[in-house]
Amino acid sequence: MVQRCVRAACCSRMRFMWFSLMFLTVLCVALQMMGVARQARSSKELKLVSEQLVRMPAEMHGPIKNRDRKNLWTVSAAIFEEPVDQQPFIQRKDKSENPHSEEERVQVLEDTRKKRSSTTKAAPPIEANKLWLDQDFPKKPQRPDFPKRIPKMKTPPPSDDKADKHAVKSLVDDTVMCQPKNHIVFLKTHKTASSTILNILYRYGESHNLTFALPAKMQSQLFYPIFFAAHFVEGVRSRSVKEFHILCNHMRFRSQEVRKVMPKDTFYFSILRNPVAMMESLFVYYKSIPAFRGVKSLEEFLIQGGRSYNASVPYNHYARNILTFDFGLDNTAPKSDTELDKRSAEVIAAVERDFPLILISEYFDESLVLLKHALCWSLDDVLSFRLNSRSERSRRPLRTETAERLKEWNSLDWRLYQHFNATFWKRIESTLGRVKLQQEVILLRAKRRKLEKTCLQEGGAVDPAQVQDSSLKPFQYGVAVIQGYNLRLGLNNDTRQLCQRLITPELQYTSALYTKQFPQLSAAAAAKKKIGVSRSTAVHRAVERNVETNVHTAMMNKTSHNNTNKVSMHEQLKQFS
Ligand SMILES: *[C@@H]1O[C@H](CO)[C@@H](O)[C@H](O)[C@H]1NC(C)=O
Ligand SMILES: *[C@@H]1O[C@H](CO)[C@@H](O)[C@H](O)[C@H]1NC(C)=O
Ligand SMILES: *[C@@H]1O[C@H](CO)[C@@H](O)[C@H](O)[C@H]1NC(C)=O
Ligand SMILES: *[C@@H]1O[C@H](CO)[C@@H](O)[C@H](O)[C@H]1NC(C)=O
Ligand SMILES: *[C@@H]1O[C@H](CO)[C@@H](O)[C@H](O)[C@H]1NC(C)=O
Ligand SMILES: *[C@@H]1O[C@H](CO)[C@@H](O)[C@H](O)[C@H]1NC(C)=O
Repeated sequence: MVQRCVRAACCSRMRFMWFSLMFLTVLCVALQMMGVARQARSSKELKLVSEQLVRMPAEMHGPIKNRDRKNLWTVSAAIFEEPVDQQPFIQRKDKSENPHSEEERVQVLEDTRKKRSSTTKAAPPIEANKLWLDQDFPKKPQRPDFPKRIPKMKTPPPSDDKADKHAVKSLVDDTVMCQPKNHIVFLKTHKTASSTILNILYRYGESHNLTFALPAKMQSQLFYPIFFAAHFVEGVRSRSVKEFHILCNHMRFRSQEVRKVMPKDTFYFSILRNPVAMMESLFVYYKSIPAFRGVKSLEEFLIQGGRSYNASVPYNHYARNILTFDFGLDNTAPKSDTELDKRSAEVIAAVERDFPLILISEYFDESLVLLKHALCWSLDDVLSFRLNSRSERSRRPLRTETAERLKEWNSLDWRLYQHFNATFWKRIESTLGRVKLQQEVILLRAKRRKLEKTCLQEGGAVDPAQVQDSSLKPFQYGVAVIQGYNLRLGLNNDTRQLCQRLITPELQYTSALYTKQFPQLSAAAAAKKKIGVSRSTAVHRAVERNVETNVHTAMMNKTSHNNTNKVSMHEQLKQFS
């Protein structure tokens, strides 16, 4: 009885196993067939997407037409209402969601980096850097050698399949071996130390043979304050440039247009500054805009409740919530607290969606360290001098009431700043940790001091009147005194070249890069200039072409300043024609 029972059980178990096996086999076959079908479909989809990408330039519109140029401000809102591409950026990850994995990632990156630097002896890209940056510095930096970069420049321009493989590969590399990023968008904001970041990007790009998405027609800005459009970039319309790496000149951000220019794996970042201190800077710098023209001081402007401010008058965007404006969002003041809550949440969400990294100007060196990690660069790559910085003489401390009024006046920017200041520190805590951050900041500062001693005659910044090489004088503007630098004499060629790049002001550097990237266009511009356009028409044209220049020119006329570098101003204007 017991025996039979056992046998029956055994039999039925055997049969059960047999059926299970058959079922599994069938399931496997079915799954495999489904997999093949899906692969075929998704590769078709990928192909479609990349075909779209290739086609895009053809759909881009022509340059600004003459008629539009006359009326740049008013047409700005109407330019290109094209459907928004809903695809999220490939590289964007929600870091706040999973701090642990981020921490692990950083650890993995550090370990890999250490391993690589101990096994491979890659030559650093800039010899001069090596020359003295690492020399007689007792502690070796985290990454003494530049990790071997996969030579992206050698890969052919992305065509259907390759582009996708490439994207996938860099995603993998990101997590496994930290490949230095070289597709970068930096939204340059106003009066936030962004010129210093620009110089970092310019030098990195130049020494790594990267291509910049420079403003068309030799402009210094991407037709700010008009909303960015793809064809504002030189080489887009003519399709003479196959791949852009870095987009970093002043623009009013517009995500869908930027994505037409930049590759899918582009890293986006920007920088914010406390709107209180920022507004004091803006007031001095943009004193001649309609909102500020008639008032003596920022206090007076605020006490009057901003009576001189009319949001619909051109150039007045500098006077209120300019950060929000630069990010391409509505900067008009909310009418109630409820509206402020709603709108500021929208602004923050929009910035978070497009920018995985927001730096904070008040913590500049900490920001550089964070940037270094985000881009997988070395500390030397983010080493810089402060550029476009105002002399202390033209700074005025603000009273507490003024500061409070400013927070209210720039309520959107204030909320934006507070949010990203908080996430900045959260990010540091969840990735590097404050201790490691501080170590790197100390290292960075030591390197900077050494670099200043090596490069600069006075060991630091000087007033523009004392800048001896007129080609290195910073552009002067409003009543602010923008400081410059003198190179030490007797530097050897390599060091001199590096030092010179470190102190080259923005306008001069932009123009030099343009000349390098578009030798024919800049030669043609120079030739045209020689043919004999009179100075006045040159200025006139420049004013017509560049909204910003208009403000510059008006300001130069209004404020006679002894330190003002008028010759350079004229040279700048001539370049524009
Ligand atoms: C950049 O290009 C120059 C000349 O084509 C070459 O000598 C140099 O090695 C390149 N540098 C990098 C980092 O690719
Ligand atoms: C603001 O400027 C616009 C356009 O110049 C004008 O139509 C409007 O009347 C101005 N508003 C005030 C309150 O002055
Ligand atoms: C920014 O964050 C730091 C660190 O949390 C804090 O000390 C500082 O007060 C914040 N700044 C502002 C203006 O909120
Ligand atoms: C330095 O550059 C100058 C010209 O720019 C050149 O004549 C000279 O030979 C260079 N010196 C060295 C050591 O390369
Ligand atoms: C600058 O001033 C001169 C004379 O004072 C005037 O003729 C010229 O139109 C002004 N230019 C601008 C752009 O305001
Ligand atoms: C410019 O300098 C001269 C003497 O160097 C002085 O008399 C004049 O007042 C100064 N002008 C301004 C606007 O500072």
